[in-house]
Amino acid sequence: MKIAIIYYSEHHGNTKKVLDAIKDMADVTLFDVKKIKEKDLIKYDVIGFASGIYHTKYHKDILEFAEDYLPHSQNVFLIYTYGVKANYTKEMKKIFKDKSCKLLGSFGCRGFDTYGPLKYIGGIAKKHPNDKDLNKAREYFRKIIQ
Ligand SMILES: Cc1cc2nc3c(=O)[nH]c(=O)nc-3n(C[C@H](O)[C@H](O)[C@H](O)COP(=O)(O)O)c2cc1C
Repeated sequence: MKIAIIYYSEHHGNTKKVLDAIKDMADVTLFDVKKIKEKDLIKYDVIGFASGIYHTKYHKDILEFAEDYLPHSQNVFLIYTYGVKANYTKEMKKIFKDKSCKLLGSFGCRGFDTYGPLKYIGGIAKKHPNDKDLNKAREYFRKIIQ
């Protein structure tokens, strides 16, 4: 089973840490959305979208990429990291619904956040994602690939 994961991870590389923890569990190719040249995703059996949360959403580059290049009727999954827990997947789920894609799962965990005034207090969610977060991510991904 071939898996592509399109990701955006800039703030502290938190989301990339999660991806690095799972990537060797299957035939996974990671694509940084800022550099991606691969636009034909039809050869992948499953496509993941991973992002830090920026202003309550997946990063706009990921949203735009999914709108433009996600093939219809694909199997998809989500991975994201955030400073404060909330529901941040609404926009991605709408894209999946519009394209009749099947959402296999969604995983989020906290990620070190020093955005704006948070930097003056040394940030929040320090040391996240931690080992516990990464183990949960592995557990989640195991179910995705089963
Ligand atoms: C510009 C900006 C906006 C952010 N907006 C949110 C937000 O709306 N909600 C939240 O919980 N975290 C927010 N964060 C924190 C990030 O989602 C969090 O640190 C995430 O783990 C970053 O992932 P990355 O290091 O992979 O980019 C924001 C961070 C930045 C830099």
